[in-house]
Formats: sequence, structure tokens, C-alpha cells
Amino acid sequence: MRSVEAFRDLQSEATEWRRYLHRNPELDSRLQNTARFVAETLASFGINHIETGIAETGIVALIHGEGGDGPTIGLRADMDALPILEASNKPWSSETPGKMHGCGHDGHTAMLLGAAKYLANSRKFKGCVALIFQPAEEVLPSGALRMIQEGVMDRFGISQVFSMHNTPGMEVGKFGICHGAILASLDEFDLVVTGKGGHAAKPHETVDPIVIAAQIILGLQTLVSRGTDPLEGLVISVTKLSAGTAYNIVPGQAELAGTVRTFSSGLRDFAERQILASAQGIARGFGADVELTYRRDCPVTLNHIHETDLAIKAARNLVGASSVDDKMRPRMGSEDFAYMLEERPGALIFIGNGSSAALHNPAYDFNDEALPYGIGYWVNLVETALAA
Ligand code: NI
Repeated sequence: MRSVEAFRDLQSEATEWRRYLHRNPELDSRLQNTARFVAETLASFGINHIETGIAETGIVALIHGEGGDGPTIGLRADMDALPILEASNKPWSSETPGKMHGCGHDGHTAMLLGAAKYLANSRKFKGCVALIFQPAEEVLPSGALRMIQEGVMDRFGISQVFSMHNTPGMEVGKFGICHGAILASLDEFDLVVTGKGGHAAKPHETVDPIVIAAQIILGLQTLVSRGTDPLEGLVISVTKLSAGTAYNIVPGQAELAGTVRTFSSGLRDFAERQILASAQGIARGFGADVELTYRRDCPVTLNHIHETDLAIKAARNLVGASSVDDKMRPRMGSEDFAYMLEERPGALIFIGNGSSAALHNPAYDFNDEALPYGIGYWVNLVETALAA
């Protein structure tokens, strides 16, 4: 177990990788240059088992320890950027207008590369480490889900999976994690209310979908306040509402759309079921009808108990117990790493990015001072989970 000082040597090289990736952002699964750079850098460390082209541009590389037989654990970094016009004014800003690393996946990739270099050299662990470089975290279809569907868990014999995400507003050198749900699930819905259009001066001859939509919206808020345990978190937000074309016409249809976030898979099922039941009940009561399209995106990111304990231990040994918040409040954001945690036990940890701009903000930049902490966390985690 090592403190962060053991990883300072890697900082300048990791900073170069990070800034190269930052200058050259790519979107979704189309990460040809990024993937080529990652594969070539891994090969330069003497890693010879590198499989590319998984879920288009995903990579899995294996490093075997010298401590004998043991399980294989997966360490996952995401690699994709966002369609944002960068305004960080950093010398290493994006060279492609309209694309930027606005979520720090350049830093995540650089930290895992740094850990790969260290582990390929030291190999002080048993079993095997599978480095998972994932495309398409920010878009649908999810890169994590696609890598799973292409069989990475079984093919590489991965028994546990871990990931790390930077977080602005947390000091560099600090970590945050919690047992159980750490990030919310993310679903979206579209709801079409079909009534009967007509003259606005003769409302009794119409079935007004706007008035019905208004009642449906309030009904959905009541689902949360009256239908769920107040100590559990559920967000149902209607974020789009459109209907009508003129002052004197009652339209025939109204369209609503929105999002559902929760930390409980039971509440997720509840939301999908009850949004339809509630909207349908209200609409039918007024002689209208509804059509619901409900899309499940990311599941709840659920940290498993034993693996979370391992992550806490690895972080504490790096930075000391007082710099690891092991009871971090869960966040309402979501992460497609959740799919990997449905397949294998594991844990996601947050690493402090200092006082940077927020994630997905045009002024955001990953903090290179965090690199040795991230690298050190990965190495300590491997040497804890796969102690020889
Ligand atoms: Ni992200």
C-alpha cells in the first residue's frame, strides 16, 4: 500500500496524455483516434494482450500479476467527449470547435493509463487486471451496455468491476463514496394526450387536451408526494409541454415529455407503471386517451458492500482516512457504469477535481493535480483486491 508520493513520478507523463486527449476530443463511439492512442500507449508499457474494437472503439487490456493464480478484476474508464463549444481558455483547449472533454473522461483515461504503466511494471498482485476503456458513456446506446453485450465480462473472466469519476467542488486528494445506491437511474417518457379539437368558443363540443394535460402534470407530482415513502428519493419532472396553434382553436392533442430519477429499482418500476395508470385514469375520466412511451436508460448505480469496502481501504491507504468520505450523499446524476454493476459486484468512487467549473460546463477542465491520486487509487485497489 502506497501513499500518493509513490505516484508523483507519473504525473508529468500522465498530464501529457491527458492534455493530448483534451486537445483531440471525439464523440460517442466514434473514438478512432482516442482508441488508437490508448492502444499504442498500452503497448508501449509492454502490455501484449490488448483487444480493440469492442463496441466499435472500446478496448480491454490484460495485465497478469506475478503473485500466482487469482481472479480477474475490471477497472473501467470512459473515453468520450461532449458536443460543447469549449470556453476553458486553457492552452490545451479542444482543437475541434463544438467538441470538448467537458466531463473529464480525458482525465479518467489518463489515470487508468498511468495505473497500467505502474502495474505492468510492478505486477505485485495475483490473478489479473482487465483494463476496460469504454466508449459512448454520454449517449445512447450505452457503451457500457454494448461492451457487456459483446461479452467482455465472460470472455475475460472478470469477477469484479470498479470505476472512478471526478467531481468538481471536492478538493484534490479527496475521495467520496457510499455503500448502496450512489447515483440515480435515468428514464425518459413521452406522453400524448388525444382529445377532440374544435372552436375555442364552444369548449363543450371539444375534449380539451390542454386542460387534461394540466391535470395529468399535477397528478404525476401527486404520485411522488402521496404514492412513495417520503424517505426514498423519486423525481418525476415534466420538462416539455406542447399543444395548440392559435388563440381560437382547441387542439386535438397535447404532448408531454419528462424524466424519472430514483435510487430504488422498485420505485423505478412504480414510476413506469403509475405514470401510465394515473395519466390514463385522468384522461379517460374526461373522455380523452393517452399513449405513453417509456424508455429505460441507465439503471441505479449500486455499489456492492464488499467491493465498496475494498475501494474505501484503497483510498484511505493512499490519502488517509480523513480524506475519504465513505458516507457521501448519493447524487441524482447517472452513469452507465451502472450496467456493469448489474453484471458483476463492484464500486464507483468519486475523486476530487478541486474548484473547477461544473461537469458539462463549457469552462470545465479536468484537474491534472488529481492524476497521481487517481493512479494511486487504482494501484492500491489492485494490490488490495488481488493481494498476493
Ligand atoms: Ni462523466
